[in-house]
Amino acid sequence: MSINSATAIAHPNIAFIKYWGNRDNSLRLPENSSISMNLEELVTRTRVTFDPALKTDIFDLNNLRQSGSELQRVSAHLNLLRGIRGVATRAHVLSENNFPSGAGIASSASAFAALTLAALHALGIEMNNAKDLSRLARRGSGSACRSIPSGFTEWYRGSSDMDSFAVSIAPPSHWDLVDCIAVIESRHKKTGSSEGHKIAPTSPFQQMRVADANRRVERCRNAVLSRDFAALAEIMEEDSNMMHAVMMTSRPSLFYWEPSTIEIMKAVPSWRKAGLEVAYTIDAGPNVPLICTSASLDGVRHRLSSVSGIQDVIIARPGGPAKIV
Ligand code: DP6
Repeated sequence: MSINSATAIAHPNIAFIKYWGNRDNSLRLPENSSISMNLEELVTRTRVTFDPALKTDIFDLNNLRQSGSELQRVSAHLNLLRGIRGVATRAHVLSENNFPSGAGIASSASAFAALTLAALHALGIEMNNAKDLSRLARRGSGSACRSIPSGFTEWYRGSSDMDSFAVSIAPPSHWDLVDCIAVIESRHKKTGSSEGHKIAPTSPFQQMRVADANRRVERCRNAVLSRDFAALAEIMEEDSNMMHAVMMTSRPSLFYWEPSTIEIMKAVPSWRKAGLEVAYTIDAGPNVPLICTSASLDGVRHRLSSVSGIQDVIIARPGGPAKIV
């Protein structure tokens, strides 16, 4: 194989209905379906160059050479993709995020979506089916499969590797929602999602969370499709709270919230009562992504300015699909 290179971009996504726990950790087959929105302003840009002269894979992230588990995870994913072509050529992966790495915005979704697309392209593998692209991205990071299609997406739990992928349920223009992320300072090193998924079954609440998941997915999908903000707010907060109940009752227990996280969670219902269309959803960290309508954004920002412990506020609107650039 000669030197072959391709560059792709992908956006991270914010889940309205969360993915937490796998029925197969190595295949990343999730316990439940999930729904999310891509984030347009946040971008990962990744160039993959397969070069026969390389002895090992090289992974540079934001101009820093990576080693250890970060490199291993990228290499393992490249092995999966190389296997499709039956080649062993090593690659140089050059990746950049336009959002601060320290801000606690999960980047594995956009990272593995962009890596999958760029590597397949550089390998000359044609994916006629967007579902297959999403399936392969899923193997790198579960949430990455939702960063392949455009706008608002649903990842089907599926029955096997073949039918667990994400599809677009509405384009970015469907609803002028905004993700207003309150970045909260945290001195603690958090437990990553991959480890969290593995211990999810140790919580007695996980079974109930999973058993009720189809109801939440359906409600959320209907709320998105009919642009019903009140319904979205209710189901999104409920789903986030249920995931955190599982996290807190896992062994070992995972507590991701900081005092400011809770301050916002408690304030949001009163902001809604005052007329703002806003709801919270929280991932595996202390930050609070606040989903609001464009019309409510100024009001939300104003209210956030009087909450203590907020380092930064990042704004992102519904985003497009992963693509070759
Ligand atoms: C809390 O996709 O980061 O953000 O498959 O191990 O890479 P891996 O996990 P990841 O998990 C995301 C968990 C979450 C909820 C969500 O985005 O659905």
